[in-house]
Amino acid sequence: MAAQKASAQPAIAATDLWKRYYLGDVTVDALRGVSIDIPAGNFVVLLGPSGSGKTTLLNLAGGLDVPSEGELSVFGQRLTGLNEEQLTTYRRETVGFIFQMFNLVPTLTALENVRLVAQLVGTDHLSRRTLADVGLAEFADHLPSQLSGGEQQRVAIARALVKQPNLLLADEPTGSVDAETGRGILSLLWEETRNRGMTAVIVTHNNALAQMGDLVLRLRSGEIAEVAEGAAIHPREIQL
Ligand SMILES: Nc1ncnc2c1ncn2[C@@H]1O[C@H](COP(=O)(O)OP(=O)(O)O)[C@@H](O)[C@H]1O
Ligand SMILES: [Mg+2]
Repeated sequence: MAAQKASAQPAIAATDLWKRYYLGDVTVDALRGVSIDIPAGNFVVLLGPSGSGKTTLLNLAGGLDVPSEGELSVFGQRLTGLNEEQLTTYRRETVGFIFQMFNLVPTLTALENVRLVAQLVGTDHLSRRTLADVGLAEFADHLPSQLSGGEQQRVAIARALVKQPNLLLADEPTGSVDAETGRGILSLLWEETRNRGMTAVIVTHNNALAQMGDLVLRLRSGEIAEVAEGAAIHPREIQL
């Protein structure tokens, strides 16, 4: 089983990770020597002010971008040694990504958006069920434009979960929904982590949400400012 094999290795191991962006003659060090070790099966909350490097770190872990320096391994596989084709396979087979801005295909229905990804990884038989799991069974044939922000975000979550990914990366998944919808979304991700042994990294800037993590990481100016054990409280029980 992939999940068992995965649990023998840290989910994410980063050593002295740097990410430098070049903007004309200005350089920005978005990550400045980040070293972390995230055990498999953990629900990780990644906190930090705007511009602290949260999205950058997620993009590197998800193989959407490459570090400028340092080592990065996911489930024992060195991402820093992969070529473009291998990175594509890694993204497809290992990672579920929930973006801040949904990124749904506007001309496809909710179900078609989920199936598009599921077909790539051979889990199309799970498409309808996953859409139902996020509470959207009745919205399968709606286009994104016919859905509320919270519903669109749930389609994006179904699209990430239908792959049954070992690693789920979510960039402020509740940033654009109301508190109650947000709580539902986080509960779903939290339970999926418990039930399936998935590892999840959830970016937020809501400090109260740190309580739901097994592990809490805090970034400040591209550096890890804090690594703490979390209280692992179900999102439904957290006062927001
Ligand atoms: N593609 C990019 N090009 C140039 N600078 C970037 C790029 N992406 C992020 N940055 C810069 O890197 C820093 C970290 O950004 P980001 O990872 O998006 O932070 P966060 O997600 O915590 O708000 C910021 O100063 C941001 O302006
Ligand atoms: Mg961000």
